[in-house]
Amino acid sequence: MRSSLERHRRLRRLTVAGGLAVALAFGTMSAAAGGAQAQGPSGPGLTADAPVVTSALLPDYDSEIVAKFDSANSVEHIRHLAVDIGPRLNGTPQEREGAEYIGGILKSYGFEVTYQEWGPVSTKQVAKVTSSNADLPGGPNWQMAASASAKFTGNGSVEGQVVYAKTGQSAADFPEDTKGKIVLMDYSTTATVRNTAVVNAVGRGAIAVILAYATGNSAPPSFTLTTPQPGLPVVGGGTAHNTWIRDLLAKGPLTLKIATNEYVTPMGNNVIGIRHAVGDPTGTTAPIVMVGAHIDTVLGAPGAHDDASGNGVSLEVARVLSQYPLDKELRIGGFGGEEGGLLGAKAYVKTLTDVEKARFVGEWQMDMVGTPYEPARLWALTPNGQSNYVVQEAYNAAARVGFEGLRNCRLGQSDHQAFYDVGIPSSLFIWLDYRPPAVCSSSNGSYVTEPQYHRPTDTMDNISPERLQVTLDVVGGAVAHNALNAVTVSALSDAGKPLAGAPVQADCGNGLRNVGTTGADGRLKTVLPHATCDFTVTAEGTVATERGVSISGDRALAVTVDLTKPTISLTAPTDGAVYTLGAAVAASYRCQDNLSGVATCTGTVPDGKPLATSTVGFHKFTVDATDHAGNAAGQTVTYQVVYPWHAYFPEALDGKAGSAVPIKFSLGGDHGTGVIAPGYPMSQPVTCDAGKPTGPAESTSNPGNSKLSYGGGQYNYVWKTDKSWSNTCRQFQLKLDDGSSHFTTIKLK
Ligand code: BES
Ligand code: ZN
Repeated sequence: MRSSLERHRRLRRLTVAGGLAVALAFGTMSAAAGGAQAQGPSGPGLTADAPVVTSALLPDYDSEIVAKFDSANSVEHIRHLAVDIGPRLNGTPQEREGAEYIGGILKSYGFEVTYQEWGPVSTKQVAKVTSSNADLPGGPNWQMAASASAKFTGNGSVEGQVVYAKTGQSAADFPEDTKGKIVLMDYSTTATVRNTAVVNAVGRGAIAVILAYATGNSAPPSFTLTTPQPGLPVVGGGTAHNTWIRDLLAKGPLTLKIATNEYVTPMGNNVIGIRHAVGDPTGTTAPIVMVGAHIDTVLGAPGAHDDASGNGVSLEVARVLSQYPLDKELRIGGFGGEEGGLLGAKAYVKTLTDVEKARFVGEWQMDMVGTPYEPARLWALTPNGQSNYVVQEAYNAAARVGFEGLRNCRLGQSDHQAFYDVGIPSSLFIWLDYRPPAVCSSSNGSYVTEPQYHRPTDTMDNISPERLQVTLDVVGGAVAHNALNAVTVSALSDAGKPLAGAPVQADCGNGLRNVGTTGADGRLKTVLPHATCDFTVTAEGTVATERGVSISGDRALAVTVDLTKPTISLTAPTDGAVYTLGAAVAASYRCQDNLSGVATCTGTVPDGKPLATSTVGFHKFTVDATDHAGNAAGQTVTYQVVYPWHAYFPEALDGKAGSAVPIKFSLGGDHGTGVIAPGYPMSQPVTCDAGKPTGPAESTSNPGNSKLSYGGGQYNYVWKTDKSWSNTCRQFQLKLDDGSSHFTTIKLK
């Protein structure tokens, strides 16, 4: 279920590699989550991870973590920042609210949260514009510039219906019912024209004035008036405000509420979440992996893309990584005052001691990480245009998820510059239509931003869940990779040879997972959380296991694969041994394996137990051995069980040709008359002196009447000799069913 969903999601991710494909409804996995997560709260309305398939082996940690990243969660954070809070101009309460939202989410993930106030910064004069009777396009919280020449309402506000009065330069521009209303007029870039408009509106009884750009998609303008207006708020809006208000007015009456405030030399706000490394709870030694984004926005912009999007991605990375015990310190920075000149990030890096700076692995800055603006691509931009560790790690993460669209070039203009300036490897990750210069290390490129950039229209419409997902996979994937321990596993044969192409699996307490296959050098690099792991390496059909390996930082380990068979030493029976029927003989053998150790050592009968001697003939005895690596060895010997033979005839005897010669012997009892091997006895003519054969052996049953009987504890074979054999010698050959042969020679008269 999950796997097909996953595959689908992955495919969808890859379709955006070269730009935004069709805007697909981005599936969340909330239905599958079932609230069974062990992790902390996901935050309001956030989706939790879907259950992982348990039947197959788990994937490596890089893949597992990337599969958990869900941009739907990022979108919810962005919505909270850009819509619920709205514009977050540096030094305003909204910047602080943004910091507190981020801090609250991070606390819920177990981060230690610090709010840093820095500054003071320049005085801000802003208007908050809301409506009680309309859904304002772009979000319920509009921000405009408050003219310092007019009234600041402070905690109070002015509320009323809105009328539109064009440029406000003549009486004809004003509707009949202007009195008591909020008057919207087109903003003029000429100060005298603006002043006239405001004076005319005030003269007709306006309770507040909005001067908004009629065209140009501009940000709200700040302005002063030659005629001060201490009795009413006068505010500046962008083109979007002008258009939106007029569109709303076309549908019916519109009520707006305007609150203007002057924040005099306010403090700026940063929020820093720290998740300490397992072995370094006071944060003094562990490597630091940092992710940053800026909280603040330019005046009037909800900043969904710039840069709520960066925080949305940071928080989703924080959520997923908080599920793993880590040996790296994870820091999430939300910086204020970026738009004022990287002020918050500069204030933050100032607090870092030299020792602390030296602990930084890098800082991944995310600013504008997912606009649907088609020409935008994902860039890793550094102040000097050169790649660095942070950039390289993002490339590696991109390669892991099959994203080929990442590019590196030169630009400052965001908080990564502050980290770069103090020697911390950093990069800006940004979806931007960036046009690189001929040589990235020589100069900045140029760029075209999406039309909503730094505008009131930088709303949720300027957010692409698909591109956020790419950013999560690439930048989040790089951060996760660095937050885990880098572990190198070397696979060696017992002869010390590197074993290439050996699959490596690890169980770090939560199930067996594939962590990869060794390369040509016999090494595999993987990442693991803080854990105790059992490793399994398979080479040439043989498995080696290294148990209880403590992973508490970057490390290397070697796993030796036992490719040598166990040895078997078999002392009883030995090959060709002959035992008398019923003899008591104990089997004796042992198996040895100096590497993985003997797993099984099994003989035809157990070591020390009696061999089978109750039946005559040839018997096989086998010992099979295996070691714990799965190598097998076997050894088989043959032994013979014979009757206790006693002959009651001499080696040479005399007889008369044609007479019957009794051949008497005993076999230790009566074993029936079937004791003679088929075809036997035989007799063969031989020379009387040397006993050399002079003709073929022939069966004694031919010419016949020879006969075996048993009586008185003896066997008696009556051998009928042939008359024609007179004056010859013949060898009598008796072969028994125990495999033994017995001979006597007779000299016939
Ligand atoms: N999000 C932008 C970063 C950016 C960089 C946007 C390049 C487009 C192109 C950032 O918030 C911003 O606006 N930065 C300022 C510079 C800063 C030092 C005040 C800018 O690019 O004007
Ligand atoms: Zn920005």
